[in-house]
Amino acid sequence: MKTNYWVVDNVDNQVGSIEEAARLLKDGQVVAFPTETVYGLGADATSDEAVRKIYEAKGRPSDNPLIVHIAEKNQLQVIVSEIPEYVEKLMDAFWPGPLTFILPKREGLSTIVTAGLQTVAVRMPNHPVALSLIQKAQLPIAAPSANLSGKPSPTLAKHVMEDLNGRIAGIVDGGMTGVGVESTVLDCTGDTPMILRPGGISKEELEEMVGTVLVDPNLVDEKEKPKSPGMKYTHYAPDAPLSIVDGSPEFMQKVIEQFRLEGKRVGVLTTEENQSFYEADHVIVCGNRKDLKTVATHLYDALRSFNEQSLDVLVSESFPNAGVGQAIMNRLLKAAGHRVIKE
Ligand code: TXA
Ligand code: MG
Repeated sequence: MKTNYWVVDNVDNQVGSIEEAARLLKDGQVVAFPTETVYGLGADATSDEAVRKIYEAKGRPSDNPLIVHIAEKNQLQVIVSEIPEYVEKLMDAFWPGPLTFILPKREGLSTIVTAGLQTVAVRMPNHPVALSLIQKAQLPIAAPSANLSGKPSPTLAKHVMEDLNGRIAGIVDGGMTGVGVESTVLDCTGDTPMILRPGGISKEELEEMVGTVLVDPNLVDEKEKPKSPGMKYTHYAPDAPLSIVDGSPEFMQKVIEQFRLEGKRVGVLTTEENQSFYEADHVIVCGNRKDLKTVATHLYDALRSFNEQSLDVLVSESFPNAGVGQAIMNRLLKAAGHRVIKE
């Protein structure tokens, strides 16, 4: 399949490209587009046939439901059957933005989108290209992250090209995404909301608006079964095995030296503050610790770029488990298959 490619850096000046991409979506095709978190792989959420193509292109297990993306609140009417008051409050505070709500679904939506569940995931992305594309298509758009299943999510159009060129109808290139980690998935089917996946909006930010917010026990203890189907799959792993080092930079350098004594080529993921501590075969600087949002922004590109070097092992610093640090550590631990080397 030929994959169309449009560069859109200004929505108002490039309406023609957005319209072409929207036409493909209306036609039941799959198109990748930027959101503020990561690139999404979109298709008409009301069409079984269109949604099936997303699963095929990604190689995604069919028991893993998709997020439905909307551009206006009135689109909710055909997607969800009820909205608790605290959800209204959170929508007003954080939409458009990196927050996904799990709510009871309305009959009539593609059952493939929800993988047969009685609930549906819905979010309004905060990106001009995404919003304009959804508006032009006049459809709710089902979209997972636009990577092959198991790979780090794409934060640049070139990542989407690497994974899906020839497998989808088009890619809208809107530059680097921004937030860098996916949306927070919040289960709102009970009286108290529960975070199923940490993401762009932190637990602290949610609690400021609605009081207590629970956390899926699986996020604290990996032996617990996750409540979100997608969280059970391995994800984000670079080609070389990654370990998270929980300790000082001096300790991490000792770990690196030990690997190198074994004849291994070592890649390091660090931050601006600590880069000068390390001597290794390849060092990637991923944001700075003073502002963890910068680490989130560059994390997936860093994980992907290790694959361009021939490295035998990778080590990463760890990050404080607060604010967006919760999402960063969740993704890093998954990428590392939960291998942690403690000082
Ligand atoms: O930021 C994002 O959320 C990106 C952009 C493209 O919007 N999308 C994204 O989609 O990360 P995906 O498919 O890669 O992750 C969606 C997560 C999965 O873990 C899935 O299992 C979960 O949401 N999910 C979807 N519907 C659900 C439901 N009804 N109940 C529980 N979890 C659900
Ligand atoms: Mg994903």
